[in-house]
Amino acid sequence: MKKLFYLLFVALVLLLAACNSDSDTSGEAEGGDSSGDDGGESAGKVEIFSWWTGAGEEDGLLALIDLFEEKHPDIEVENAAVAGGAGTNAKAVLATRMQGNDPPSTFQVHGGEELNKSWVAADKMEPLNDLYEENEWMDKFPEELIDLVSQDDNIYSVPVNIHRGNVFFYNMAVFEEHGIEVPTNFDEFFEAADALQEAGVVPVALGDKESWTATQVFENILLGVLGPDDYKKLFAGEIGFDDDRVVEAAEIFGKMLDYVNEDHASRNWQDSAQLVANGEAAMINMGDWAKGYFANDLDLKTNEDFGYFPFPATDDSFTIITDTFGLPKGVENTDEVKEFLTVLGSVEGQDAFNPLKGSIPARVDADPSKYDEYGTDAMEDFKNSRLVPSLAHGSAASEGFLTKANQAVNIFVTQRDVDNLIQALTNAAGEM
Ligand code: GAL
Repeated sequence: MKKLFYLLFVALVLLLAACNSDSDTSGEAEGGDSSGDDGGESAGKVEIFSWWTGAGEEDGLLALIDLFEEKHPDIEVENAAVAGGAGTNAKAVLATRMQGNDPPSTFQVHGGEELNKSWVAADKMEPLNDLYEENEWMDKFPEELIDLVSQDDNIYSVPVNIHRGNVFFYNMAVFEEHGIEVPTNFDEFFEAADALQEAGVVPVALGDKESWTATQVFENILLGVLGPDDYKKLFAGEIGFDDDRVVEAAEIFGKMLDYVNEDHASRNWQDSAQLVANGEAAMINMGDWAKGYFANDLDLKTNEDFGYFPFPATDDSFTIITDTFGLPKGVENTDEVKEFLTVLGSVEGQDAFNPLKGSIPARVDADPSKYDEYGTDAMEDFKNSRLVPSLAHGSAASEGFLTKANQAVNIFVTQRDVDNLIQALTNAAGEM
C-alpha cells in the first residue's frame, strides 16, 4: 500500500514538473488563439511528420532537428517520417490521421494545391499570420511563395526550401567519353540519346517503381512544349488536355521512354540516380534532391563528377517544389510547434537544412556561401526565371487529379497509347 502511495506521489510530481516546463517554453511565441488546451501528454513534444527517410532525404531534416534541439533542449522531438519518395505512403497515413482527428504536430506539405485544396479547404489548418508578423517574415520570403501557402489573406504554412524539378543531372565522364554536348532542345536531346545508345550506354535513367518520377518527366515535357504561360493555363483549366500540344508532349514522352533502362519499374528514384552515378546511365531528370543525394550520400563532386542542365526547352522556367510545414487544427502544444516553425523559417534553420537537401533556401536573405555551385546557380535561376508549379509534387493540381494523372502515366509507360493518356487526363480534369 505504502509503495502504491509513493508511486502515485512520484507520478504527481512528474506531472507537475511537466506542466511547469510547458509554460516555460510557451513564452516566446504568442498566438494564444488556438485550442486553448493546455496540452495533455503530448505537450512539450513536437511530432514532425514527413517522408524524409534514408539516403538523399533525411540528412537535412536531421540537421534541422539538431539545431532545434540545441535551441530548445526542453522540447522533445519525435521524427515521424514515413518512407516513400514524394510522399507515396506518407500522404495516405497523413490523410487517415487527419480524418481521425489525430494530426501530427506539424507535417510536410507542398505549397500550392496540396496544402490549399486538401487541408485548408477542409478547415484543418491554423492561420500563421501572427507568426509571420512576429518574425517579420513578410519580406523575407518571395511573394510568389507566400502566395502558394496562402488563401484569402491567411498564411497557412512556412516554406523550408525551394527544389527545382526541371533539371537533368548527368555523369560528366560519360558525356565527355562519348563527346556529348549538353542539349538545349528536344532535337539535340534525342541526338545525344541516340549517340549514347549506340555507344552502349543507357541514355536516360528512370526509376518509376513509384509513378511520380514518370509524371515528373511528362510535366517537364509539357512545360517545354507549351511554355510557362500555357503550362499554367493547362492546370488552371483554361487549355484542354486534348490540345494538340499536349498530344505532341505525350508523343515526345513516349519517345523519351525508348531510351530508359529496362528495369525502370523496379527502381525507386535513388536506385535510378545510382545508375548515373556509376556511369551505367548518362543522365536523369530528377528534382534537385538528387543533388543532395549525389553530393552528400554518394560523395560525388558538383561540376566534376556530375553536371546539370535545364530540362530541354525549359531554360527560361523554374519548376518550383516547395516543402512547407504548418500547424494543424486540434494540436495541443501549439506554442512548441510554433517554436519549431520559427527555427525552420529562420536563416539559420534554412541554411542548416538546404545545403544537405540539395534545395535552395526559401528565404531571400540566406547565406549563399553555405551552398555549392549548383546551389548558387539555382538561386540565380530562381530569380531570373518564370516560376511554374509542379504537378507531380502537388502544387499545380489537387491530390485527386494527381492520383489519376499518376495512374494514367503509369499505364502509358507500359502501353504507350497516346489517345488513352489524353482521354484519361481529359476525364480527370474536372477534379483539378
Ligand atoms: C518531393 C519533396 C522533396 C523530396 C522528393 C523525393 O515531393 O518535395 O523534398 O523529398 O519528393 O522524395
